[in-house]
Amino acid sequence: MPEQRKFRAIKGTRDILPPDSALWNWFEKTARGVMESYNFGEIRTPIFEETELFARSIGAETDVVQKEMFAFDLHGSRDLEWWRDLLKQGAHPKDRFSFRNRLSEFLEKVALALQQDRIGSGEPNSRIIAKLKSTLQQLDNALDRDANDEVESLTEAGQSLAIDLQIGQSVVLRPEATASVCRAYIEHGMQMRPGDQKLYYVGPMFRRERPQKGRYRQFYQIGAEVLGTSDAPAIDAELIEMLTVLLERCQIEKYTLLINSIGCPDTPERKGCRPKYVELLRAKLREPEIFSKLGADSQRRVETNPLRVMDSKVPEEQAIIEKLPKISELLCADCREHYEKLKKELTLREVPFTESPRLVRGLDYYMRTTFEITSPILGAQNALCGGGRYDGLVEMLGGPKGIKGIGFALGEDRFIDAIQEAKKIHATRTVDVFIAWMGEQAYPTAVRLARVLRGEKHTVELPPEEMKFRKALERADKMGARYVLILGDDEIASDMLSIKRLADGKQEKISEEALVDYFRGAR
Ligand code: HAM
Repeated sequence: MPEQRKFRAIKGTRDILPPDSALWNWFEKTARGVMESYNFGEIRTPIFEETELFARSIGAETDVVQKEMFAFDLHGSRDLEWWRDLLKQGAHPKDRFSFRNRLSEFLEKVALALQQDRIGSGEPNSRIIAKLKSTLQQLDNALDRDANDEVESLTEAGQSLAIDLQIGQSVVLRPEATASVCRAYIEHGMQMRPGDQKLYYVGPMFRRERPQKGRYRQFYQIGAEVLGTSDAPAIDAELIEMLTVLLERCQIEKYTLLINSIGCPDTPERKGCRPKYVELLRAKLREPEIFSKLGADSQRRVETNPLRVMDSKVPEEQAIIEKLPKISELLCADCREHYEKLKKELTLREVPFTESPRLVRGLDYYMRTTFEITSPILGAQNALCGGGRYDGLVEMLGGPKGIKGIGFALGEDRFIDAIQEAKKIHATRTVDVFIAWMGEQAYPTAVRLARVLRGEKHTVELPPEEMKFRKALERADKMGARYVLILGDDEIASDMLSIKRLADGKQEKISEEALVDYFRGAR
């Protein structure tokens, strides 16, 4: 017998059980309802994507990409890697045929991996494999002729070709979905569809963060993205308004909407205002008395990406960040105008906001509008949601020029905590009818009536085995059932059904024909 052991959910992941799952379902339904009322349609994208997609969009210097991605090799080609390492060692000094033999073996393994679809068969692999085959032939020829110099240069050529062969495909569990939505937008040519594409998604995301309350390694986001040719501030404002409507539906009253503009990057057409700000920030951060107080990550980022110092969570760095220059002082005329219009639009929609000049958000793709909603009822992980504008991301990912984008994602886990803290919404599932059947004769009627009532959308519990009447009543009570439908010998003989209302114990008899109407009325 193998040793008995208990399995537990992996650290940072958790199970969501009834009755809590009822609140999750209520929330998702409410969020879908709100987003659909603003004419957003659902998009479902895969849970894993190419690593490169996120590295390019979110940015190589961000915490998410550097530390938090769950990456794995899709193809599992360890055997090929092992053979390639052997090739990298070159020929054995005492065996001039060794490289040739290893290359031949390697090509056999490659052919098998191709057959099993474990490595890509398109470009550049097909070209590299053809060249490796021809190198092998040339090697045979050179070895026959004892042409040592030729053997040496062919060995080197074979080595570098083998290194270029793309063996694995690195993929990650998605840490967020904006990049996936942009990838899908490009892949399906969605710019050809009429108007702006207003898309929403609901699903799990994965980040290898240090787990704590409100922070998980598998967490759930509901997000929305608007992609199209317009960057009208009304789009930004409507998206934010939509979030406040959702907060209202959830009766979360204690929250703050923080907004900022982080300017624009350089484009081939014009110089942006953000690079100037980044330089100013870098100069400030390089000052010895500031630089010496920064941690290793931030010190590195002063050179690689100073904006990322701004969203450092290191407690000792907060006082420094507070005193850094604000981008608002350097915004170009266009960005300033966009930001002013956004504020006007929010006021028009009666959405209260607080300007937060240092809100840069932890992902590289943002420009102009950034926003976050925080709630004091949440504790340390107080960000309910975050978002911003990312014009240019679609183009950077190889999509059409001129496509603008803005979106947000809310942390579902945190919303649920906030709803529970606010104590205003109580979503539970109830059993409407518990069927207490007794005796073989009653059973077929019980099965039939359960189906009829379920067809009427009532939640019905039909015990799979006969229960004593008292036990059945107790069970129904514990389940919180509203009614017990009693089916015993008496009921079958008299063709009348007994119904007991558990709230007050009132019991009455009705005919089977009256049953459906009775429960319709009891809703
Ligand atoms: P984000 O700020 O990284 O933005 O995440 C959005 C929200 O997801 C956070 O405000 C938080 O509520 C929740 N969240 C993030 N990490 C965790 C975690 N480890 N555990 C629990 N909740 C978490 C984005 O993901 C962007 N894609 C948002 C966006 C969409 N920007 C434009 N479009």
